[in-house]
Amino acid sequence: MTYRIVIDKPQCVGHARCANVAPHLYKLDENGYILAEGFDVPQGEELAAFRGSKACPERVIKMFDEDGQEVRRSPTAA
Ligand code: F3S
Repeated sequence: MTYRIVIDKPQCVGHARCANVAPHLYKLDENGYILAEGFDVPQGEELAAFRGSKACPERVIKMFDEDGQEVRRSPTAA
């Protein structure tokens, strides 16, 4: 199973919790706002990506599976 992270970047208010959970996946700009609008989750990073997405209190970050379904439960590593 492959996953994609989709980020509603304009809604980011800079909580930085995503980056605290998974700094290697969720990079912030110099003002503390998320940089990317999305990315394909690298193999082995599924759990970190999911946890980072759930850490955002604004629900800015969502994770989808390859069928386009939002991932709502913690995925197991592929
Ligand atoms: Fe922004 Fe949410 Fe991360 S508000 S910096 S996407 S925790």
